[in-house]
Amino acid sequence: MKKITFKNTTHKTTIIIKKNFVKKFLFNVSNKDRKTYCIVDSKVKSVFKNISFKNIEFIYIHSSETLKNINNYSFLCEKLLSKGIDRSSILIAVGGGTLGDLCGFVASTILRGVEFKLVPTTLLSQVDSSIGGKNGINTKYGKNQIGSFYHPTEILIDIDFLKSLPMRELKSGYAEIIKHALIKDKNFFYWLDKNFNELINLETKLIEDAIYKSIKIKMFYVNKDPFEKLKNKNSRSILNFGHTIGHSLETFYNYSRNLNHGEAVSIGMLAESMISNELKFLSKNELNIIISHFKKTKLKIKSIKFNQNKILSNIYKDKKNFGGKINMVLLKNIGNAIFYQNISAHKIKQILNKI
Ligand SMILES: NC(=O)c1ccc[n+]([C@@H]2O[C@H](COP(=O)([O-])OP(=O)(O)OC[C@H]3O[C@@H](n4cnc5c(N)ncnc54)[C@H](O)[C@@H]3O)[C@@H](O)[C@H]2O)c1
Ligand SMILES: [Zn+2]
Repeated sequence: MKKITFKNTTHKTTIIIKKNFVKKFLFNVSNKDRKTYCIVDSKVKSVFKNISFKNIEFIYIHSSETLKNINNYSFLCEKLLSKGIDRSSILIAVGGGTLGDLCGFVASTILRGVEFKLVPTTLLSQVDSSIGGKNGINTKYGKNQIGSFYHPTEILIDIDFLKSLPMRELKSGYAEIIKHALIKDKNFFYWLDKNFNELINLETKLIEDAIYKSIKIKMFYVNKDPFEKLKNKNSRSILNFGHTIGHSLETFYNYSRNLNHGEAVSIGMLAESMISNELKFLSKNELNIIISHFKKTKLKIKSIKFNQNKILSNIYKDKKNFGGKINMVLLKNIGNAIFYQNISAHKIKQILNKI
């Protein structure tokens, strides 16, 4: 069991990483004299089968990237309002990053904000999306274009949820873990390289450690730059390594099942590592180490089709840009990332040609 507590002037969040404790947690919540709405991903519905909790109303939802849209946002708000949600109610999201992102936005806006708790059920949501208080929905103009910063009071990471997760989704979460290692912690990268097999087979101690280390790295940037204002090596944008190209690929693929978030980010990390090397930051040797890790762990690095011009025009819409210039997170070394401003479109095209 691991516990992390974060407190500042605006909010307090407690994060717990543990096995098999979600029912006990819900039971404790249900004993409070407050109405609780639990929005649950249908894929984990069976966990709550045949149990009833006092004061908790369950709403089951099928999730995928397309869940994060304005129609589902208003559907969910109206559903909660029709069920009598009030300002003392608690909203709990039990699901992956898509459900968490949508529910976080609902929680932050419904009745101008109700208490929010997160039970992330995918590896990606446990190591990444549940941390940092960002939520959002997508529009036809790109990912997460509408959203807010709103922190859950508790994040309950029950690693038993991972047992039912398909390998493809586990890999998607692993992509964010390796991202955290690549931007901030060289030792963590080599530790992951050594322990990958046990980790992906969900060996308890290893998976708990990997989740904990990942969260700590994400929290480092979130605490340094909570509203993503900095443009230096402590910028929260550093967490976006692999995402400039990754997000543009996801947008190109219309957020379809053909390419999930972690897969898009894996390709993005490889391409952005190659750009780092082209610009003489990352050495050829370290680039090769990264490539062999991606090959060994079978992260998605190729065999997708895309239209180069469309990818580039998506890149121009990235939230890290300003003044019409493309900005990107690059690697100086394994474990050391920088916020690079005004990268040439020509350089990006050259690399897109190689992947
Ligand atoms: N808010 C942030 O800071 C942040 C950070 C990173 C990513 N994200 C967002 O997270 C989203 C991706 O999250 P995700 O990868 O969790 O996707 P997801 O929520 O779509 O889950 C992936 C699939 O796994 C299923 N699933 C969920 N839990 C399961 C379980 N325990 N067993 C079996 N199946 C299960 C879901 O139904 C879905 O089909 C993206 O929209 C991305 O933009 C947000
Ligand atoms: Zn991501």
